[in-house]
Amino acid sequence: MKEKIDRLLAEVHSFSTENAETLEQFRIRFLGRKGHLQELFDEFKLLSADQKRDAGQLLNVLKNAAQDKLNTLKQTLEAGQVIAASDTDLSKPVNFIEVGSRHPLSLVRNEIIKIFSRLGFSVNEGPEIEDDWHNFTALNFAPNHPAREMQDTFFVEKNPDIVLRTHTSNAQIRMMEKTQPPIRALFPGRVYRNEAISARAHCFFHQVEGLYVDKNVSFADLKQTLLYFAKEMFDADTKIRLRPSYFPFTEPSAEMDISCNLCGGKGCGFCKYTGWVEILGCGMVDPNVLENCCIDSKVYSGYAFGMGIERITNLKYQVKDLRMFSENDLRFLRQFESAG
Ligand code: PHE
Repeated sequence: MKEKIDRLLAEVHSFSTENAETLEQFRIRFLGRKGHLQELFDEFKLLSADQKRDAGQLLNVLKNAAQDKLNTLKQTLEAGQVIAASDTDLSKPVNFIEVGSRHPLSLVRNEIIKIFSRLGFSVNEGPEIEDDWHNFTALNFAPNHPAREMQDTFFVEKNPDIVLRTHTSNAQIRMMEKTQPPIRALFPGRVYRNEAISARAHCFFHQVEGLYVDKNVSFADLKQTLLYFAKEMFDADTKIRLRPSYFPFTEPSAEMDISCNLCGGKGCGFCKYTGWVEILGCGMVDPNVLENCCIDSKVYSGYAFGMGIERITNLKYQVKDLRMFSENDLRFLRQFESAG
């Protein structure tokens, strides 16, 4: 009997299956009503008291081994069925969540905002669909100013009073209408012009406008602020130069150049061998504009500036074709710093 038990015990130990049916057969063969164990217990009854002591122990070992094996295999099998049912392959590599990258225009806009916020400028926005007053009239555009004409401005539904804003200056009017000085604010946003799309022009682009209105604001303040900006945005050796210009809403007005950041001002193809590249328009807010917004121009003065984000981005990253900014070609977009 001992030999028989040993043989069956070895069989139990070496048994394994991933199949429910085979496992059931195992159960019947060992633990069933006519199984090995029942058979052995029947034989056991016929033994002498002496023999029973040893055989009883062995039989119990075999019974427990068979029961344990059955339980373990059953559990493994059920777990396997759950996995199969949920259709999950735990051995598969995980799905990577692709981290995007920021759009270069957003990167540059954020950098511009960061620089001016160190000087106390807050950030505000105005609407892209605007009325004539905020886009033109309050900004001192004469009724026959060419910028109002069809080739520059998109009118909404043939209504000459509603336009897609041609610049972010509308937002400075909206701010001044509802806030008395001191005002120190930035206005980033998208603007629209009725231009044929090419590598150098687009029918929409992005600007950041700055406005500072307070007592005793001077052109020197404007110049110092813009010099600080240029050095922070490009590098510490950057020089600026202001050339007289004209905007209806500023007087005097200027355009600002920076020393070419590619050749350091020596002259190269990029700056057309002048050593300078234009980056923004600026000036002292015209008193008429302050008065249009109910700000007393005898008490207050202010400066304003406006720059194209695409322009600054081109200078920083040498993007040759403006259209790339709006084509969403991932090969282009992924070249810039990843989102963080
Ligand atoms: N609004 C002007 C433009 O779009 C830029 C500008 C803003 C100039 C503020 C002077 C002051 O070209």
